[in-house]
Amino acid sequence: MSATREQFGSRIGFILAAAGSAVGIGNMVGFPVAATKNGGGAFLLIYAIFVAFICLPVMLAEMSVGRHSRKDPLGAYSTMSNNHNGWKVAGWLSIITPFMIAVFYLVITVWIFGYLYQSVTGNLDMLAAPDTFGSFINGVDLIYYSLAVLAIIYLILQGGVKRGIEKAAKIMMPALFIMLVALVIFVLTLDNAFEGVKYYVIPDFSKINASVVSAALSQAFFSLSLGMGIMITYGSYLDSKSDVAGSAKMVALLDTAVAFIAGLLILPAVFSFNPNIDTSELSDSSVGMIFTFLPKIFLALQTSIGYTGASAVASLFFVLVFFAAITSMVSIFEVPVAALMEEKKFKRRKALGLLGLLLVVMGVMAATSFGVADFFTQFTQYAGQSKSFFDLIIDVFYDTILPLNGLLICIFVMYRWKKINFTQEMDVNSQSQGNNWFIRYVNFSVSTFIPIILLAVFVNTVALKYF
Ligand code: PHE
Repeated sequence: MSATREQFGSRIGFILAAAGSAVGIGNMVGFPVAATKNGGGAFLLIYAIFVAFICLPVMLAEMSVGRHSRKDPLGAYSTMSNNHNGWKVAGWLSIITPFMIAVFYLVITVWIFGYLYQSVTGNLDMLAAPDTFGSFINGVDLIYYSLAVLAIIYLILQGGVKRGIEKAAKIMMPALFIMLVALVIFVLTLDNAFEGVKYYVIPDFSKINASVVSAALSQAFFSLSLGMGIMITYGSYLDSKSDVAGSAKMVALLDTAVAFIAGLLILPAVFSFNPNIDTSELSDSSVGMIFTFLPKIFLALQTSIGYTGASAVASLFFVLVFFAAITSMVSIFEVPVAALMEEKKFKRRKALGLLGLLLVVMGVMAATSFGVADFFTQFTQYAGQSKSFFDLIIDVFYDTILPLNGLLICIFVMYRWKKINFTQEMDVNSQSQGNNWFIRYVNFSVSTFIPIILLAVFVNTVALKYF
């Protein structure tokens, strides 16, 4: 353990930073759309059960490993397994996965920044035009947007844990929350808005089936930023006295609350714009929804609040999503940065520079996957489909490796690190010595059914995606 290791300055700082990672594009758009398509209130219920009973224990496992080892994921897996080669592979996976996810998350964050810029500068009508998205993602302007986004990420991460990550989260998260609530209140005053609320919250149990249940689980897992070494890395910046279990509960609660409230924004806006909407129009890809559908919805508000008003609402929305995306992006990128600092003794600036360069190169490969470069647009082929470089990253790292990493951390904690040590780490401040029901539940679930479920998800994804 190095004496100079950085730490979060306060418990609330840690909670906001971890929640900043968790609250992202998945909450602002993915969750509302998924809930709408899959039974509204019924989906919400299933989702909340998964967060509480499956994801929260996994989050605790990750945070505890981080805090115990005070290392990046690779360092944690190596030292806690006495340099076991097999576990080192798990460590490497926990570093490569976030790096690769950073590549595609960066591309989407850059698009959001571009949409923010265009709506602030009065071009909402252009964004809402039918073919805008297709040309936007292949446009030269992306270069400028990328430079701006990279500069913001660099500045935050250059500030380190306390003055960079924690400070950014302490400003952006409360701002996001306040703007979100303000926007919800406004949208609820629009005509017909309550149709949207009804559609969103009234449970429709007839829509629940096996694929909905599995969608809810993946959404919850991704939304809490699990399986990526992030909670290990952030946990490693916690001091040894802080209450890991209490913090993890807060993070899960905040993340779920933001997702739910984002639904109260999007659905009423959609219904107010078009009372007889065919909800199948809400495309299932959250990304498509933000860029092709929502600008139209915002523009339609001009009949009630004028073009400037509509642009203001759109701008506010894109700022929200941008804040959410930036704090997530920062957390994803911090993992490989921390690993390079720890394992290769690089200074923060050097680690950032080197990985930043690599990120730019891969980011260009991903960003030109939509037509600009044929080589990346038709990068590979499997399961009878041609896949771009961007698709490949999503399929492999996001859909396949995330549950695998979750599975590995559960097995590692229970069967290598051992239950007694895990319990002590979670329960460090209490006198209960693992006797409280929550800790007992976490121990039981992480050693039994959670790894089985994650294994099933992994096998199922592999079977469906690649064969
Ligand atoms: N949890 C974020 C979201 O909901 C995305 C994310 C995933 C961020 C993994 C970091 C790591 O959008």
